[in-house]
Amino acid sequence: MSVQQLAFPITQQPAEARLASSYRERLRALLSGDLDFHGQDSGYASHNFHAFPAKFPPQLPRAFIEELTAPGDIVLDPMVGSGTTIVEAFLSGRRGIGFDIDPMALRLCRAKVTPLPPEQAAAAGHQVLLRAQESLQREKDGLHQQMDQRFGAPEHRFLDYWFLPDTQLELLALLQEIERLEGLRIREFLELAFSAIVITKSGGVTLARDLAHTRPHKVKDKIPRSPIDEFRKRLNKNLESLAVLGKEGKGAAEVHQGDAQSLPLEDQSVDLIVTSPPYAANAIDYMRAHKFSLVWFGHSLESLTMLRREYIGHDAALGVNPLELPVCASQVVASIALVDSQKASSLRRYYSEMTRCLAEMARVLKPGKVAIVVVGSSTMRGIDTRTDICLGEIGKGVGFELVGIASRKLDRNRRMLPVRHQSSGTRSQIEQRMHEEYVLGFLKPA
Ligand SMILES: C[S@@+](CC[C@H](N)C(=O)[O-])C[C@H]1O[C@@H](n2cnc3c(N)ncnc32)[C@H](O)[C@@H]1O
Repeated sequence: MSVQQLAFPITQQPAEARLASSYRERLRALLSGDLDFHGQDSGYASHNFHAFPAKFPPQLPRAFIEELTAPGDIVLDPMVGSGTTIVEAFLSGRRGIGFDIDPMALRLCRAKVTPLPPEQAAAAGHQVLLRAQESLQREKDGLHQQMDQRFGAPEHRFLDYWFLPDTQLELLALLQEIERLEGLRIREFLELAFSAIVITKSGGVTLARDLAHTRPHKVKDKIPRSPIDEFRKRLNKNLESLAVLGKEGKGAAEVHQGDAQSLPLEDQSVDLIVTSPPYAANAIDYMRAHKFSLVWFGHSLESLTMLRREYIGHDAALGVNPLELPVCASQVVASIALVDSQKASSLRRYYSEMTRCLAEMARVLKPGKVAIVVVGSSTMRGIDTRTDICLGEIGKGVGFELVGIASRKLDRNRRMLPVRHQSSGTRSQIEQRMHEEYVLGFLKPA
C-alpha cells in the first residue's frame, strides 16, 4: 500500500497526533511490564519520613515519570497522600504539583520535598531535645498549666484516653520547643518527626495498637515508649534521609490544599498525572489515625470530624449531588442497594466524586498525554465494587481513551492496607482480588 492510500498517512498526521501515538505505545509497554516492584527498596530519600497507609511504591510513579516526561515537565497528583509521586517528580528533575484535603498529608508531603541544610536541622533538633528535657526537669507545673490552656475539653478527654499523663508532658515539652524555633521549614521538618513518633505501625507513644494500619484499639497494659527517646531516634533517621534529599532533589515541587474535584489549574497545563484515589467503601479512614497528631497541632476534634466528611468515598452520602453513572457502576450500585441502601448511596457518592475528579484530570492534562490512576479493590456487603472496571468506564465517559488496565500484586506487609479476614481453604475470587490493585492507563486524545 502506498502512503497516499492510507486513511491517515503517518507522515501527514498532525504532530500532536503522532506524539499521542508514541505515548500510547510507551504506555502500553509500561502497563504490560512488571509493576509489582516487590523486594525493592521503597524507603530511599524522604519516602520514609512518616508512616502513611496505602502509599504506592516509589518505583511505580518513577517508571511512568521517566518514560513519559522530560526534565522540567509538570507532573500532577491531585490526591497526593504522602507525596510519593511528587517526591519522585522532584528527584527526577520534573515539577511536581500536589493537592490534598488532609492536613496531615499536606504537612507530610511539604516536608518531604523541602531540602534543608542537614547541619542546621540537626542543630535545631538537638536543641529541641535538650530544652525539652530541661523543661521536664524544671517546669513540670508550667507544662501542666499549658496542657489546660492549649486544649479544649473534648481534646483533653481524647488525649487523656490515648496518652498516659507523663507521655503528654513529654510531648508537650517537645512541641513547645519546636514552636519556639524561628525557621518555618525547620519547624515543619521537626513537627513531622514529632508526628511520626505518634502515628506508627506499633502505635508508638500512644496507648493504641497499630495506628498506621487500621482502627485504633486501646491496649490497657501497653507501656508506651518515651517520646524523648523516640523523637531522638526518628530525628536521626530523618536527618539521614534529608541529606539524600538535598543531594538528589533536582526538580521543583509544590503542594496545596485543594479538592481534586475542582483543581485551581489551567486547562491543558499538565504533562503527566500519577495518582491513587481513596478506596471505595471508605476502607482506609485516614482521619482516624491522623487526628492523633493533628490534635497536638491545634486542630479541634470537631473541625476534623467535619473535614472527614469531605473525603472522597466517605460514607456520609447526605448532601452530595449524585451523578448519572455509566452501566457498570450503575449495576454495582443497584446490586448493593438490594441488600443495603445506605452503602449503595455511599458507593454512588464515590463514583460521582470520582467522575468529577477524572473530568478535572482530563481538563488539566495536555492533549496526547497520560493519566495513571492506581486503585484497589473493595467489597461492600460481600459484593465486589469493581472499582477498576467502573473507573475505566467513567474515564472513557469524560473523554479519555482507556489504553489498558494492569494488575499488580500487593506486598501487603509493606503497604499497610486494611486488614482482611483470612479465608480458609481455597481463596475466593474476591479474596484474590483483594491482594491486587489496578493500574489504569488513560490517554487524552490529541
Ligand atoms: C490512597 S491515598 C494516596 C496515597 C498516595 N498515592 C501515596 O503514595 O501516598 C488517597 C488520598 O486522597 C486524599 N483525598 C480524599 N479526598 C480528597 C479530595 N476531595 N481532594 C483531594 N484529595 C483527597 C486523601 O486525603 C488521601 O491522602
